[in-house]
Amino acid sequence: MVHYVIFNFTKTYPSGCPYLNLAHLRLRLIRLPVCESIMSDSEIPLEEIRGDYGFPFFGAIRDRLDYFYFQGRDEFFRHRMRKYRSTVFRVNMPPGPFISSNPNVVVLLDAISFPVLFDTSKVEKRNVLDGTYMPSTAFTGGHRACAFLDPSEPKHATIKHWFLSLLAARRNVFIPTLRSCLSDLFVDLEDELSSKGKASFNSLNDKMSFNFVFKLLCDQKPSSTIPGAKGAAMFDLWILLQLAPISSLGFNNMVLNFLEDVIFHTFPLPPLLIKSSYKKLYDAFSEHASSVLDEAERLGIDRDEACHNLVFLAGFNAYGGMKATLPILIKWVGSGGEDLHRRLAREIRSTVASEGGVTLATLDKMNLTKSVVYEALRIDPPVPFQYGKAKRDMVVRSHDAAFQIKKGEMVCGYQPFATKDPRVFDDPEDFVGDRFVGEGEKLLKYVYWSNGREIDDPTVGNKQCPGKDLVLLTCRVMLVELFLRYDTFGMECGSLPVGSSVTFKSLTKATSCSKCF
Ligand code: HEM
Repeated sequence: MVHYVIFNFTKTYPSGCPYLNLAHLRLRLIRLPVCESIMSDSEIPLEEIRGDYGFPFFGAIRDRLDYFYFQGRDEFFRHRMRKYRSTVFRVNMPPGPFISSNPNVVVLLDAISFPVLFDTSKVEKRNVLDGTYMPSTAFTGGHRACAFLDPSEPKHATIKHWFLSLLAARRNVFIPTLRSCLSDLFVDLEDELSSKGKASFNSLNDKMSFNFVFKLLCDQKPSSTIPGAKGAAMFDLWILLQLAPISSLGFNNMVLNFLEDVIFHTFPLPPLLIKSSYKKLYDAFSEHASSVLDEAERLGIDRDEACHNLVFLAGFNAYGGMKATLPILIKWVGSGGEDLHRRLAREIRSTVASEGGVTLATLDKMNLTKSVVYEALRIDPPVPFQYGKAKRDMVVRSHDAAFQIKKGEMVCGYQPFATKDPRVFDDPEDFVGDRFVGEGEKLLKYVYWSNGREIDDPTVGNKQCPGKDLVLLTCRVMLVELFLRYDTFGMECGSLPVGSSVTFKSLTKATSCSKCF
């Protein structure tokens, strides 16, 4: 039987890793509709989870140093995946001592086991947003923001319902608001490019994202209260202080790395450092988002708690998400080169011309543009980790085996490996712009960036991102604005603690279809 051959082969291959250097095998495996559908649960052998946590304290420090400095994030997982010949294994995740009380996790690295993290009947999502530690609630006025709540806590449904309805109510203003913010961004980008010969996309994107989120939630420009660039910088520091235990600034120097490890990863940074800036942000939202906060009160949410939740939604979820996502999108589209740019420009300009403008319906007709956005989110998911604590003893299966996870164990999914699973995606490491066009749409169920399958929707009962549609729309409108204005662009990119850095080196103005504007 075919699936038996596959199973044996991948288990006994000497490299130990079914994912490595096996182009010929990979092709055969992908053509089959993945072992998921041909092996029933009872056929899958139950295996011991490999890997260990080492000695208490020292094991966690060793894994932390490997993760940040000796191996780096991807190699940290790849090395162990090879060593244990498994996509499911035990390891310690940073930060470890003295920030997290228990750094022990079971890691999931394949497309089949990963979705257990979306099943809130099996995993608890209480306080696991950042993994094995939780930042002080002093960052959020003493409240646990929605993203830290498990759906079994009644407040989760109330607050998420409020978020979903406030986003739904703004549906018609998304596109015009975003287009006006993007228009400012491209004016600034061109100015910087002509004066300096290059332009940093990240800083302009941060300012644009802050302005967009503020306008969307407060129905007015932030300039009268907190100018975009300043607001973005305040949110940056607030986010960095919360995420420092799992971040690295990427120094190329042992001494600086040592200092960073002590300062960022050993003790939590005090919320006091950001107290006055946070208060300014809180006051700005409290004053200007009054209609949104009135609605929260009508739903029974205390106004102060609602406002802290709104700041978290605006700053951490929306601004932080856009800060990571849009440079990733531009990086991959830039890497696609002139041929991809030509195809995108053709699709975007002809659809806008035939539909008479940029509307939700227009965007929905752009199949290549949609696919390019899904592909960027697949190859480089902006939020790389998901965590959940087993609510009960449970069995989690990968392609080849099943594993028993005990109640209370922490499960950690590293998404960049799960969404580049070579047994699901052809050429998983390559950016294939039209991967999800036509038949390719069937693979959308393996795209997980929103903390759920791409074919699922956020609800009050799950933990999927309520901004999912808005994020997709933002990415599509970004491409539309880019290729209505320009034929192609040149850029350089690098990596950052969150996402990628993108520097524009050239912009070639659009040569056709000026009426599309
Ligand atoms: C821009 C890119 C964005 C990305 C990549 C992103 C991604 C995610 C992910 C992965 C989660 C789940 C976190 C976890 O529990 O592990 C999440 C949750 C959440 N996101 Fe987003 N998000 C983005 C934008 C937004 C926007 C624009 C909003 C709202 C305006 C938003 C609101 C939320 C909220 C409230 C949650 C918590 C959901 C819950 O507790 O059920 N996000 N997001």
